[in-house]
Order: sequence, then structure tokens, then C-alpha cells
Amino acid sequence: MKVLVVGSGGREHALVWALAQDPEVDAVVAAPGNPGIAVLRPAYDGQTIVCCSVDISDHDAVVALAKEMGADLVVVGPEAPLVAGLADPLRDAGIAVFGPSKDAAQIEGSKAFAKDVMATASVPTGRAYVCTTPEQAATAIDAFGPPYVVKDDGLAAGKGVVVTSDRDEALAHAAGCEQVLIEEYLDGPEVSLFAISDGTTVLPLQPAQDFKRLGDNDEGPNTGGMGAYTPLPWAPDKLVEEITEKVIQPTIDELRHRGTPFTGLLYAGLALTSRGVRVIEFNCRFGDPETQALLPLLKTPLGGVLYAAATGKLADQEPLAWQTGSAVAVVVAAKKYPASPRSGDVISGVDQAEADGVQVFHAGTALDGDDLVTSGGRVLAVSAAGEDLDEARRRAYAAVGQIRIKGSQHRTDIALKAARGEITV
Ligand code: AMP
Ligand code: GLY
Repeated sequence: MKVLVVGSGGREHALVWALAQDPEVDAVVAAPGNPGIAVLRPAYDGQTIVCCSVDISDHDAVVALAKEMGADLVVVGPEAPLVAGLADPLRDAGIAVFGPSKDAAQIEGSKAFAKDVMATASVPTGRAYVCTTPEQAATAIDAFGPPYVVKDDGLAAGKGVVVTSDRDEALAHAAGCEQVLIEEYLDGPEVSLFAISDGTTVLPLQPAQDFKRLGDNDEGPNTGGMGAYTPLPWAPDKLVEEITEKVIQPTIDELRHRGTPFTGLLYAGLALTSRGVRVIEFNCRFGDPETQALLPLLKTPLGGVLYAAATGKLADQEPLAWQTGSAVAVVVAAKKYPASPRSGDVISGVDQAEADGVQVFHAGTALDGDDLVTSGGRVLAVSAAGEDLDEARRRAYAAVGQIRIKGSQHRTDIALKAARGEITV
């Protein structure tokens, strides 16, 4: 099988890495990929892994590349091309695509659309008002009281949500958005549950937890995600079954009933509140950096499952198989991330970090001559497995300690509370 992976981040690096472990996969092309993917070694004789520079907002160019390489499967990694509708012309060209259509990707592209789907399908989520004027927003903000949750309706690359007890800050964020959701505050630990779907059948992954804030102890601004771990030793029994039954399956069914079946990865971001599970958000693709923690533990060959989903054959698929133990991914971010990440800083120590079987997934990296340099906010995700979270943390942080980037930032407490047994539901 020949697979085209669209995207250039840490999630795409992890996807290509996992696809390369699948004996049925003979070639992976990453478009445009990144320097980490470019030096990935094939896992099997005769397997090819290459990066191909292409502008992924040029849908015709991506379709042409898929045809030229004879792709059996295209996996679209990031949300922006999915929401822009890249999956549609690929499907129209008769190519199997893992990734939702433009219409189904609205589950991430518009928070108001997602709320409407959840209301119709009776999926539990926070109460929210959709507001289009500052006056409406102020009324909704005062109706809920602090802490205030103000969400830009559209895609905002992790910067759309403000959670604050400062009324003026809440009003200011609302004023800066064309359409906002003012939502009730949801308390309790957060869970990321991913499910693969062919539009009808769903196949959940094991749950993970993401760390959205920049600093230790969840301080500082929201980011795209500073680290993740999986599985969740504190999760209640049957959590995955409960979320699948109450959240994932009804959402997939509702999208199909609307005539816009969802084929790809449905990401549910959830809060386990005292009143039960509540959806915080849906994404229409694999999460970053949860994927970098999850895929190294996945035993089921990835290419076969994604192909089964893309071709409507998920019902024949066995449940996913996982290695025992835990995995922890720690993001190393550039100086001044997230406000204005600095580019061009030299990155060293990646080979040493990887020496011990740890995976270093590239995201914001570029080559400057022979030097690997920073070129984005989240630069690398260092992912390590272990018998338990303590061991995975030790290995991940030992590897992070090998990496040198001037002014870089990382959290030191990824998975710490879980490892100490300090998370309760
Ligand atoms: P989102 O982009 O919707 O995932 O929001 C980013 C982060 O903001 C989430 O991971 C939560 O930590 C926080 N957040 C979003 N919505 C709520 C809410 N209703 N209550 C509390 N925290 C929230
Ligand atoms: N980990 C958060 C995201 O992928 O949106």
C-alpha cells in the first residue's frame, strides 16, 4: 500500500513513523513533511519514505501528487486543509481518503455547528450561547458568572478560547471575534478520546490527556498542547465505552443522518465533571501531541485500520490492540512561544535523545545548511514509553535534557499528578 500523508507537524511525523511500522505499507510520501520525516529510516526492505514539497492549500496540486505516486490512501493530518475541503476533490478523483469532507469537518470548523449537532443527538456538553454582538456577549457572560469561557466560533489554531475570571478580559476577547460562544464553565479532569470512523462504525483509541497551558501547574496562556500521556491510570472503568456510547456514536450517527458522513478521526475533548462527562470540543483529526504519545503504543498496524475506515470497512476490524505500559510526550517549544516564537535557533542533541529508543517527533524544525533550526512554536515532541508513567516520564525527561535550543521552553510536570495518583474524578 502507498500512503500520502498531508501535513508537516509532529502529528504527521508520528503518523508516518507508525505507517512505516506496518508491513503492508511499501511507501509513504509526506506532503510537505518535515526534516524529521525526511530522515526516517524505512522499517522494511524496499519501503520508501520521502517528503515532497507541495503547497497543501493548492488542492489540485495535492490531487495531482496523489495520482502521480499512485496513492492507495491519503491521510490528511491537520484541520486547516480538512476544513478547507481538501478531502472532497481527492475522493472525487476516486482515491481513498482518511479525513472528513468539508461539510463533516465543520464539527471542528464551527463551534456553533458542533453545538447544534450535539443538541440534536443529545450529546452532553456545556450550555452555551452563540453571540454576534458585544451586547449579547455581555448578557451571556453575566448570566453564567465567573469563571468565564469565551470561544471564537471559527478555527483559531489553539488561540480561540479564553477562560478567565476577569470580566473585562472576557468581554475584550468576545469583542475581537465575529461570532462567539459563551459557555458554562466545566470543572473536572480533561480527557482526549479519539475514535476512528468510516461514517458508521467507530473504533475508539485508548484515552489520553493533554496539557494545554504553557506553564507547570497549568499556569500561563493556552497553547496548542505542551505534552500528553496515555493511558489514564485514574480513569473510571468503562470510561471509553461510556464516551463511545454517549458521545462518539451519536455524533457519528447524526452527521450521517444529515447526509455528511464523517470518515476519519473524531477527537472528543471532554471534561469529567461532577455531573458526568461533558464535551468541551470536537476536532476532526488526530490531536497533537496526544498522537505522539498514543501511536508508539499501538500494536495494530496503522495503515490497515486507516484504509478500512477510508473504504467503509471498519465493521470488519478487530478492536485496536495496545502495548501494555504507558507513554509520555513532552513538547519542547521555541523561545517566546506562543506569543511570538523565535525562529532560527540551532537545535542540537536530537540523536543523543533518540539513542535510548525514545522517539523525537519534529514539528517546528527546518534545515539551515547543515544545521537543524527552529521554525515554529512547538519545535519537537519527545515521546517515551515505559512500564508505567514513572518510567515513561523518566525516559522522556532524560531525553528532553539532551536537547539544546537557546531559550526553549517545556513543562516539567507532564503526567506528574497522574503518576502520583493525585487525579480524582
Ligand atoms: P478548546 O480549544 O475548546 O479545547 O479549549 C481550550 C481549553 O480551554 C480546553 O482544553 C480547556 O482546558 C479550556 N476550556 C474550554 N472550554 C471550557 C469550559 N467550558 N470550561 C472550562 N474550561 C474550558
Ligand atoms: N491537543 C490539542 C489539539 O490537538 O487540538
